[in-house]
Amino acid sequence: MAGLARLQAPGELAAGTVDVWRARRQDASPRHAGLLDHAERRRWAAYRREEDRERFLAGCALAKIALAGYSGRRPADVRFDRTCGHCGQPHGKPLLAGADLHHSVAHSGDVVVVAVGRAPVGVDVEQLDGRPRPLGGGDPGALARLVLAASERAALAAADPSSRERQFLVAWTRKEAVTKAAGDGLRASFTKVVVAADAGTPRLIAWPYPQPPDCVSLHDLDAAQGYVGALAVIGRCEAVRARDGSALLAALA
Ligand SMILES: CC(C)(COP(=O)(O)OP(=O)(O)OC[C@H]1O[C@@H](n2cnc3c(N)ncnc32)[C@H](O)[C@@H]1OP(=O)(O)O)[C@@H](O)C(=O)NCCC(=O)NCCS
Repeated sequence: MAGLARLQAPGELAAGTVDVWRARRQDASPRHAGLLDHAERRRWAAYRREEDRERFLAGCALAKIALAGYSGRRPADVRFDRTCGHCGQPHGKPLLAGADLHHSVAHSGDVVVVAVGRAPVGVDVEQLDGRPRPLGGGDPGALARLVLAASERAALAAADPSSRERQFLVAWTRKEAVTKAAGDGLRASFTKVVVAADAGTPRLIAWPYPQPPDCVSLHDLDAAQGYVGALAVIGRCEAVRARDGSALLAALA
């Protein structure tokens, strides 16, 4: 626990700064399960594949340990309200009550990422190389028609074919980061969330919400070799700090 206290010491998080904690699913250990509440434990146990269990546990534990460090609580005392804003079921964006902190969790392949900020944040990461299943079930064109706006499809069609899968995932992660920041996730119409193409500065061009799109700060993340990632902040974001989530998980393991 002394190691954890040391790691939590840089717990200052100024408005306009977002910390992105990165870990691997393999960093999850049974000890982290002690941080889960009853409903989370049930979910964790219900995953049939070991890798899904590890991803969920690593993401949930990393979020709790990191948020504990900023809010001065014990990790086991960090509880999330996951009430869905649309139907009331406990499958919505996890929120930490009683603290001026926002966070977002993403996992893909071996990578687990948790972003924490003082404004609503959304993070997404997708495995690019060595995906277990092909994009769009082998029909990436159909997926592009489903989630990309006409201008985005045109930019993708003009791209070098060898870079199209990456460019699609860059657009996808930028869109999903934005909709996770807004709290809707895949419930939002992705064709109405329009982002700048890979070549340009990450930028939200249009979205289906009342605030102007330029109130959203969009950033690409260097998630890991073979992965694509994006961070969205509804508000200003002058600094994105890469943090060592593996060390944070190891300090408790
Ligand atoms: C959130 C969502 C985009 C995640 O997509 P994914 O690519 O499968 O998974 P990711 O790894 O990127 O993100 C998972 C994390 O997103 C978070 N999350 C869940 N719902 C969320 C929401 N509405 N907004 C933002 N984040 C959400 C959770 O922390 C989740 O991690 P967990 O497994 O620890 O609970 C997707 O599951 C979704 O859109 N769910 C809501 C669908 C919905 O609203 N259905 C109708 C309900 S009435």
